Amino acid sequence: MPTDDANGSIKSGDNMPRHIAIIMDGNGRWAQKRLMPRAFGHQAGVKTVRKIVEYCANNNVEVLTLFAFSSENWRRPEEEVSLLMSLFMLTLQREIDKLDRNNIRLRFIGDRHAFSEKLQKKMAEGELQTRNNTALTLVIAANYGGRWDMTQAFQKLAAKVSSGELKAEEITEQLINQQLSISDLPEPDLFIRTGGEQRVSNFMLWQLAYTEMYFTQTLWPDFDESSIEDAIKSFKNRQRRF
Ligand code: IPE
Ligand code: IPE
Ligand code: MG
Repeated sequence: MPTDDANGSIKSGDNMPRHIAIIMDGNGRWAQKRLMPRAFGHQAGVKTVRKIVEYCANNNVEVLTLFAFSSENWRRPEEEVSLLMSLFMLTLQREIDKLDRNNIRLRFIGDRHAFSEKLQKKMAEGELQTRNNTALTLVIAANYGGRWDMTQAFQKLAAKVSSGELKAEEITEQLINQQLSISDLPEPDLFIRTGGEQRVSNFMLWQLAYTEMYFTQTLWPDFDESSIEDAIKSFKNRQRRF
């Protein structure tokens, strides 16, 4: 395990967040500022994803969760939704082998039934191909909502109650937790939202109970290694306070 160097570099050392969860926001505004269509911002956003995944894989982060598409994002204009879907597909086609070579495990959370058959197949392939990788777990939240996650958990438990397998009074936090999407992974230590809004937008509602929250004005396409280092620095300072 690397240790902090004398310059106080935050690149390594103790108290690294094990799990970082990010709401990648601001692609549209980034493009608008450049008088370009929103699609241009989403494409630039994919480049940032690459950068941040690489950073996390190289700096002992165990889990990186990225909010790519929310349950509410279907309400966007059809043209933008379909652009986001093609970009999603294209990115998977291009990146899965590379993730695999870099020992990164890919996972998806969210209701994937709404996606095309082709996309669902690609997602499953990516998960299967990378399932034994150990450098970083990259969780992509797609058609995900925290309320959706809790609802599907409660449905599973309710089914057990109605079949007599479980009594209502036996339902515990731990049991609910076990039905949630990524209950096998550590809960997020650090939450980051780019793009200036200070809200959770239905992201990981259950899992954020004790997470340190970090908000930045930086738009997602401008977010880079030094931006994530700032967030981690802030996280470490808060950790040291008690
Ligand atoms: C985030 O950027 C990307 C997705 C939600 C897919 P936005 O598209 O929300 O960009 P802004 O918030 O309009 O700038
Ligand atoms: C949150 O961003 C969802 C994702 C980044 C995928 P939005 O831009 O969709 O959220 P709101 O509408 O500002 O809450
Ligand atoms: Mg937005």
